[in-house]
Amino acid sequence: MDEVSTSVLTVEKIPLNDDSMDGYIAKATINRPNKLNALNAEVMDSLKNFCAWVESNKSVRCVIIAGAKPLPAEEGKRPKPNAFVAGADISEFVGMDSAATKIKFTDNAVEALWGLTKPTIAMVDGFALGGGCEVACSCDIRIASDRAKFGTPEINLGLIPGYGATQRLAKLIGYGKTLEMVMTGEMINAQEAKSIGLVNHVCAPEELEAVTLDMANKIASKSVFTLAAAKRTIRASLNNTLDQGVAIEAEEFANLFDSKDKEEGVKAFMERSKPKWQDM
Ligand code: COA
Repeated sequence: MDEVSTSVLTVEKIPLNDDSMDGYIAKATINRPNKLNALNAEVMDSLKNFCAWVESNKSVRCVIIAGAKPLPAEEGKRPKPNAFVAGADISEFVGMDSAATKIKFTDNAVEALWGLTKPTIAMVDGFALGGGCEVACSCDIRIASDRAKFGTPEINLGLIPGYGATQRLAKLIGYGKTLEMVMTGEMINAQEAKSIGLVNHVCAPEELEAVTLDMANKIASKSVFTLAAAKRTIRASLNNTLDQGVAIEAEEFANLFDSKDKEEGVKAFMERSKPKWQDM
């Protein structure tokens, strides 16, 4: 258990494969398996604190977000299904009005996750519905097991998505497919999610952890400073015209030529050695 772990969010510091490098991968597991890891207020507070910790902690080189595996079934009861996150905790919606909703959903943990400058990977095993799909969409990369299911079923509750799916999901899979998912509320499987660009990679459930860690290690082996510039610049494509975005890229690219890590990376290439990033 780490200092930012809570009863509903387990944070692990996973050592890098390359032990010559400082730092670690921070894996946060949402831990309410009996409620399919639904996002209640406690989870959202914990996730927000986690994000603040990630941002202020130089040792974190990559982030993984996961859902806890089901617990063994209670006697006489059927086992709970695997879930990444089955959405916002619907029980908190009872009697909630618009004023309370605005407070709850403004400046929320999904935005905090989206706002991280560090690379983020959603490791999705099982249901990623509603807020779960939105947590996944607020990560940079999504890796799913072949039993993952994605959906935005809020329409069945008389609602629409409230953690950004109408915008971030649409950026990933497009306007038409987003309308279909939001208006039907139907789930899609991992293969379909991959075919429409919602998921980067699909693998067997027993391989999910290894595939995700492999990706996290690859990314963690780069300069955190340069990764942040890459993320910021690619993000700029979401809110700008093509010409504006290309101008932003030109500025970001040029600025990297003043960084220590550009000197290091280029020198290491010339010397055929491994770069030692200073993350600056
Ligand atoms: N909020 C609160 N509780 C939830 C939940 C959510 N979003 N999703 C699942 N749960 C709870 C169930 O109430 C149940 O609790 P209980 O065992 O104490 O009764 C437990 O998790 C297991 O879910 P259950 O519905 O029994 O599993 P299932 O295998 O029959 O169905 C789902 C799985 C995912 C299809 C179903 O749970 C579901 O539709 N969940 C809601 C998805 C949703 O609408 N998300 C968007 C919310 S805005």
